[in-house]
Amino acid sequence: MISLVVAASTNNVIGKDNQLLWHLPNDMKFFKNTTWGMPVVMGRKTFDALAGEPLPGRFNFVITRNRSWDPHNKNAKVAPDLDAALRMAAETDCKEIFVIGGGQIYAEAMPVADRIYMTRVHAVVEGDTWFPVIDEKDWELVDNRDFPVDEKHAYAYSFQVWERKK
Ligand SMILES: NC(=O)c1ccc[n+]([C@@H]2O[C@H](COP(=O)([O-])OP(=O)(O)OC[C@H]3O[C@@H](n4cnc5c(N)ncnc54)[C@H](OP(=O)(O)O)[C@@H]3O)[C@@H](O)[C@H]2O)c1
Repeated sequence: MISLVVAASTNNVIGKDNQLLWHLPNDMKFFKNTTWGMPVVMGRKTFDALAGEPLPGRFNFVITRNRSWDPHNKNAKVAPDLDAALRMAAETDCKEIFVIGGGQIYAEAMPVADRIYMTRVHAVVEGDTWFPVIDEKDWELVDNRDFPVDEKHAYAYSFQVWERKK
């Protein structure tokens, strides 16, 4: 199973200047708990946004067109395109592969994904990177949990799970 994991604003913004636009500790916990022990597939820019360090406790696969690019870390494997990354990730024999961004890689992976874990951040923000629109013709919302603003979270947010319609 191939899943996308994303946090996006109401207007589908996911980043600006290769950074996230919010600090939501519960979303970081959700992301860690969901992906722990599993393969994560990402674009080279998202890897750079992680300060060039692979995510601990997960199999990291980084996609780049640059044949000489080196992550300088044996825990990150390099793939020349999305298909190759998904094949390498499948070799871990884990039951779910998580595509964790960014914008370019989500757009490429959405047509082959089975599930989307969407943290919808209830704000309209300006950015330079977007998540593709979830087309309700193809996707069904199967779970939605809403959380309000609190002292640690400047925005209200919802944890949503979308499944591809059969
Ligand atoms: N809110 C969220 O959930 C979330 C999650 C992840 C990332 N983000 C944000 O998203 C932004 C980064 O996204 P992005 O769209 O700029 O970049 P990205 O998707 O992370 O990475 C793009 C890079 O991936 C490689 N690539 C893309 N398509 C390829 C293909 N078909 N074959 C081979 N390589 C390919 C290229 O690397 P080379 O240039 O090296 O060839 C390309 O420059 C940042 O702001 C980050 O903070 C947000």
